[in-house]
Amino acid sequence: MKDLKKIELHLHLEGAAPPAFIRGLAKEKHVDLSGIFNADGSYAFRDFNHFLSVYEAATSVLTSPDDYARLVRAVLEESVQHGVIYAETFISPDFCGGGDVEAWREYLHAMQEAAEAVPGITLRGIVTPIRHFGPERAKPIARCAAETAGDWIVGFGIAGDEMVGKPRDFAWSFDMAREAGLHLTAHAGEWGGAQSVWDALNDLKVERIGHGVQAIDDPKLVEHLAETGVVLECCPVSNVVLGVYPTWKSHPIDKLMARGVKVTVSTDDPPFFHTTMTREYEMLAETFGWDEDAFTEITNTALAAAFCDDATRETLKTQLEAQ
Ligand code: ADE
Ligand code: ZN
Repeated sequence: MKDLKKIELHLHLEGAAPPAFIRGLAKEKHVDLSGIFNADGSYAFRDFNHFLSVYEAATSVLTSPDDYARLVRAVLEESVQHGVIYAETFISPDFCGGGDVEAWREYLHAMQEAAEAVPGITLRGIVTPIRHFGPERAKPIARCAAETAGDWIVGFGIAGDEMVGKPRDFAWSFDMAREAGLHLTAHAGEWGGAQSVWDALNDLKVERIGHGVQAIDDPKLVEHLAETGVVLECCPVSNVVLGVYPTWKSHPIDKLMARGVKVTVSTDDPPFFHTTMTREYEMLAETFGWDEDAFTEITNTALAAAFCDDATRETLKTQLEAQ
């Protein structure tokens, strides 16, 4: 499983920070973050809202382009260990310069340079405002995205608390990103039910959905997703750890796939959920009997749905064929 070449489309950069890395930065900066760790050193949180506040506390010690460069290196070195040859990561100018375009460019330059120095993996960025920070704060983030849209910043999305506000509140920002040529995705149907997926599709015109698993509760939506080929960025272990589904067996990824919905597999915030791409694959094989053909199918789906340019896609295809 570990050696199988993989593509990961849904990975929050700060959410992928190893706890020891964040503890090290906190120590360097004399910030007391002891409250966000368990005795064994892992991240400590009770539920989704608490997870979001622990995530933001951990992120508070990432304060410079160099911190982000070190983070990118640490995250990609881990991903490579699990066979990931291509990843797209959510990055928010909220945390990288506070929405100022020139500051954002410096962070971006540092991250890009760090990513290019890690062999065996290609990284691309998806600029992501935070939903519970509100639609006004999303506007300068969209501007940062539009100003830096290109062959490295390839997409625009939205993360954060899905129960706050509505997708249409962010339509202005998504329109700006679309006009700049960025591909679009949105977290929906993780917590907000099938209606939230409809709203993201209708009001933001996204091509992919982050999670989207609650679509399973609306047969018309399942049919629509299957017909239109909208891709779901599923993160099964994240959903089970955060309590969206009580058990792995009750996770709908297998049913969605059987009904013709295009699904992919990612880790979301791997150290928070004690997961890796290898663990996701092992869980899918154990729980649903997924075999090599199933993994080939999701990898091909992810390759086709990746927001990179076609030359990059061709290179990845060649790498996968050499497996
Ligand atoms: N930010 C980081 N992880 C997230 C998740 N699972 N849902 C929404 N926002 C997030
Ligand atoms: Zn996510």
